This record gives sequence, C-alpha cells and structure tokens, in this order.
Amino acid sequence: MRVIMNEAQTKRIVLGITGGIAAYKAAELARLLVKQGIEVQVAMTEAATHFITPSTMQALTGMPVLIDQWQDDKGLAHIHSSRVADAIVIAPATADFIAKLAHGLANDLLSTLCLARNCPLLIAPAMNKQMWANAATQRNVQQLMVDGVMVLGPASGAQACGEEGMGRMLEAEGLARDIAALFQPKLLAGLKILITAGPTYEAIDAVRGITNRSSGKMGYAIAQAALEMGAQVTLVSGPTSLAKPHGAHVVDVISAAEMFDAVKQHVAHSEIFIGVAAVADYRVAQPSEQKIKKSDSKLTLELIPNQDILAYVANLPKPPFCVGFAAESEKLCEHAKDKRKKKNIPLLAANLAQHAIGSDDNELVLFDDAGEHVLPRADKLTLARALLCHAAVLYKKGSK
Ligand code: C5P
Repeated sequence: MRVIMNEAQTKRIVLGITGGIAAYKAAELARLLVKQGIEVQVAMTEAATHFITPSTMQALTGMPVLIDQWQDDKGLAHIHSSRVADAIVIAPATADFIAKLAHGLANDLLSTLCLARNCPLLIAPAMNKQMWANAATQRNVQQLMVDGVMVLGPASGAQACGEEGMGRMLEAEGLARDIAALFQPKLLAGLKILITAGPTYEAIDAVRGITNRSSGKMGYAIAQAALEMGAQVTLVSGPTSLAKPHGAHVVDVISAAEMFDAVKQHVAHSEIFIGVAAVADYRVAQPSEQKIKKSDSKLTLELIPNQDILAYVANLPKPPFCVGFAAESEKLCEHAKDKRKKKNIPLLAANLAQHAIGSDDNELVLFDDAGEHVLPRADKLTLARALLCHAAVLYKKGSK
C-alpha cells in the first residue's frame, strides 16, 4: 500500500500579527495551519506583543518570532523571510497597518517584509465598526484590492468594545481553510464535476420515511475541494443541514428518484462524476398520501429497488470519469474491489461506515487499476483534496 500525502504540506507562510484584540485568534490560526502541515513563521508588530505574547506564538509554530527589524545580525530578516514564503497573511490587520500597506510604508519589520514580498499577500481586517466604515479605511482597502491583495472578511457581529457591527476578524477555522485553498493545485481548472451527496429520503406516508445516517459532510468536502482546484461544480444534494459550498451550483433533492432525475439532467455536460451520496437502495412501492393510522395489526410495506445512479452513469455510451464510494462495515478491501468491478468504474474510495458516518474525520482507501492507496486518517476536507489530486491524475491519463 502507498500513503498519499497532501500538497499543502510543504508550504510556508509568514503570519503577520498586528496590534488588535483579535490577535488572540492568531494563536488558533497558527495551530490550525501547522496541523495542516504548513510551516508558519510569525512576525509581530511591537503593538501586537501587548495583546499576545511571542512565546505563545513560538510554542505553537516551533519557530522564533520576528519582531524587531534589527534583531537579525545583517538586518535582512525582511528580505529572507519574504523570499522563502509562499504567502504572507496578516491576521489581524488593523486599520493602521492597512493604511501603511496601502501607502507602501515600511517602518517596522512586518511592513518592510510586506513591501519586499514576491508572493501573495492576504489580510484579515479587524477593527471597530466606525474605523472600518471610515472613508479612509475603505479607500485603503479598495487600493489594496486593486494592488492584488486578498482581503478576507471582516465579518459582522459583537465587537470587543461592546458595539455590534462590521469589523470582526473572521474565525480562525475559516481563515485556515481560505489559506489552504490558495495552495491547492488548480488541477481541475476548466472541468465540470457533478457530485451527489448526503442521504436520500423515501416517503412511507405524509410524515414518515426511510433514510440513513449520512451527514453529507464527505460529499460537501469534495465539492469544496473541487472548487478550490478550479472546477465548475454541480452538487446534487439529499437533505442535509450543511452550509452550501460557495460557488457550487447546488440542486436540492429529497428522494433517490429525484436525485436520479437531477443527475440525468446534468451528466451530459460533466467530465467527472463522483457519487458520494448514500442513495437508498429501496423505496416504498406505494407511499400513502395521508398519515397511516396506528392499529394493532401488522403493517407490511412493499419495497422496490431504486435505480443505481452510479452504475447508470458509468454505463452511459460516453461516460464521464466516474468515482464511487463504498461504505462497508467489514472486509473493506474484498467488498471494495468487488464493487469497483461490478459498477465498472475506474476509481473507488472505500471506508468503514462506523468510522465515517457523521464524523468530521475519516480514513479512505482508494482502489484503481494500479491497486490500492491509503489516505491516512484526516479531516474530510484534507481527504477530499487528496482524493481529487489522485482522480485528476487518472482523469488526465485517460483523456490523453
Ligand atoms: O452499492 P453501494 O450502494 O454500496 O454503492 C455505493 C456507491 O454507489 C456510492 O458511490 C453511491 O453514491 C452509489 N449509489 C448510487 N445509486 C444507488 C446506490 C448507490 O449512485 N442507488
């Protein structure tokens, strides 16, 4: 078995912290970035050290924190650190620091480092709502966007000063996701990908139905990862409570029959189809329009098989590149190999149902013509990115 590693693991960022109360969130951000395998070099303004200590940041990143322009013998830390970085992220970015960036000022280590960069710059503004709304700040932010700086947030909500409004820094989890997204290889640029996700619901009567415990998290993570990698994504989703991936065309369905209709409608335009949904194998032959009344006698439901959507797509005259999922409760390899053959698909991702359903983490084994490849335990977005890298390589080989 071969273990596949994630692309983002070799990336380096400079995390710049400026002097605002949201600096405490930078600690969590650093932790999440390091967890994803990103090397984090922290650079703080002197003001930031009044909100969070360099020792905290050093402990979380395992790297000495840069503060003073003159701490390095040669005074060249700003050049060296910006040259080895794949991106610089300023979180939080205060109104003052944004103004400095917009005007190209360089009077401390962090601002000098930003001016000397040759990599992308991302800022996560954080300030009081009046400071954010101020015409000068808005002008500066506009200027930075024109200069190609990526502005992440801010969000609206309760502020440290007790006021309520626009200016809160985005939460660390969202920022870590956006930063990792920047590093994803654009392997799927220009490709249309159709994904099914979530459970289906088969009505028994007006209020009852048959469904399963699929949360939709894996399918939504694959949609998110495909968007990051440059694909145009259509997500056919059974009932879930998840937030829709920004940028995907989402088609909401309830039953397996509705999911099948939606897939038929969109499949002709897709280069890749990924069936992640836990589609119900059976539906009730004649669901009752009214609620079935309780009685003392036995209730018998007649169940008839649903169409296997993945098998239908895989057996089209000109099928897209098909990826299937298999959730097994035992004998993972045996069942997965068998399923890949039966469904006639080039790639199948298998997991143990008891590890996967509803949880945020999972472990996948990919099966293709070359054998099996393990994606070690990780959160579902990390797994989705690795799965798509693998699928993109196979797709490109096949389409040549
Ligand atoms: O046969 P089994 O249900 O285990 O296969 C799982 C794979 O088949 C998943 O990719 C799932 O999305 C797909 N499937 C489907 N339509 C069905 C049943 C499963 O597309 N009716």
